Amino acid sequence: MTLLYSILALLFGAVAGDPTFTKDIAPILQRSCQNCHRAGGVAPMPLVTYEDVRPWARSIKQRTGLGPRAGVMPPWYVEKNIGIQQFQNDPSLSDDEIAAIAKWADSGAARGNPADMPPPRQFADASAWAIGTPDLILKSNEILVKANAPDWWGEIPSIPTGLTEDRYVAALEIKEVNDVDPRSDNGRATVGGRFVFHHMIWRTQVLGARTETPENPVAAVTGDDTTNWPVHEVGRDPDFFDPRAARLLKAGSSVVSDSVHLHSNGRDTRSHLEIGFKFQPKDYVPLFKRAVFGLGNGVDIDIKAMESDQQLHAYTVLQQNTKITSFEPHLHAPGARMCLEAIWGYNIQTLSCVGYDHNWVRGYDYDDDYAPLLPKGTILHIVGTMNNSPTNKNVPDPRNWQGSGNRSVANMFIDLGNRVALTDEQFKEEMAKRRDKLHLTKNDVLIGCPLCSVVQK
Ligand code: HEC
Repeated sequence: MTLLYSILALLFGAVAGDPTFTKDIAPILQRSCQNCHRAGGVAPMPLVTYEDVRPWARSIKQRTGLGPRAGVMPPWYVEKNIGIQQFQNDPSLSDDEIAAIAKWADSGAARGNPADMPPPRQFADASAWAIGTPDLILKSNEILVKANAPDWWGEIPSIPTGLTEDRYVAALEIKEVNDVDPRSDNGRATVGGRFVFHHMIWRTQVLGARTETPENPVAAVTGDDTTNWPVHEVGRDPDFFDPRAARLLKAGSSVVSDSVHLHSNGRDTRSHLEIGFKFQPKDYVPLFKRAVFGLGNGVDIDIKAMESDQQLHAYTVLQQNTKITSFEPHLHAPGARMCLEAIWGYNIQTLSCVGYDHNWVRGYDYDDDYAPLLPKGTILHIVGTMNNSPTNKNVPDPRNWQGSGNRSVANMFIDLGNRVALTDEQFKEEMAKRRDKLHLTKNDVLIGCPLCSVVQK
């Protein structure tokens, strides 16, 4: 840097052309980070004001630059160089934004002109329901997590819905309600410093009508009396279900979870979950039926000790025309990545590849105009990459071989994504809509829609 530039930099805190906090960085943080990184949010520190952010500049550069794998911020792991790229509520950063953050951190992390600062983002009161007043709120039993309690994974008592008639669910939101003062600071930089329910994988089920067996745990997520709901995780947004394919909450069903993960937040905490459902009207009938099939292997997983990059495979053949509305890899600690492929005729298309971090289990909802539309007979193939080596921080001791099972110390390999079945009529309509909307010609190839350009009007 020349002397003149150094003087300018001292005067204005930035060299002309270098990114500044107020102009370049604050808008990114508002959009993609402050959902969690704000006072009372689930993340360990707020990233709102310059004073908040400045000490973290290097760490922010590092965490945003990791690529689609464990540790990246925001926690979103879709690989951008392969497969479908259009998702709902995608908070990820563009390459330009990641580069701007790196340049900002490397050039002194200047504040910039205060007049460039965007107005602060407003957040709804954390105790308010983002889905509106729920029609039904179910509460789990209160539990006490002691300040020094070890992590706990396990099953909670089922919670009867009390429903006497079937209802379809338009939206779902889960809150943890506990006795921690949201304004206090316990100085713990762990996931959800205020919360103790790290995650809950759950379903509603008419008890007694249980279909799965230890040999076939996948049946638990495919049986008719069972509805699988999006996983609860600290910081997760509410779910609004496609109004054409709302999910069924069966009369007489109960909330069942055999995978709750409790994590102490450093003080004795009394806590319970509240599950809020917003219903469709009583006479609602879904246009699309949920496609019921399993895609995964819960039986003979074989993960060797001290090895990264081990592949697992599972397949299914679609018995109906199917629209895949979301992709949700469900692996356990050794999970590092999962890809979803569609094989149709002599074509193989990779629909999505995403990284996986067992600390941040999450699903990805396809944008409606890009959700895969696959004809009956398509083979779906999932490819899992397991890392059972010391480079995977989620594995407590990689010297252990790992096999199948429900507990967090054992393994699963499932795509828990949502799909709907389409009649031939609906399938053709959906493809026609897409051709119009995306202006597809017969020379276009749209990933995930092998017949979109073949069937012309
Ligand atoms: C969904 C919630 C969520 C979002 C969105 C999010 N974070 Fe985080 N962040 C967390 C949590 C929880 C942790 C602590 C656990 C961890 O390190 O993974 C964390 C940790 C971090 C850390 C490391 C802190 C430390 O103690 O070393 C940095 C830096 C960070 N986030 C930056 C960001 C930035 C920058 C963004 C946006 C581009 C972002 N985060 C988006 C929840 C979030």
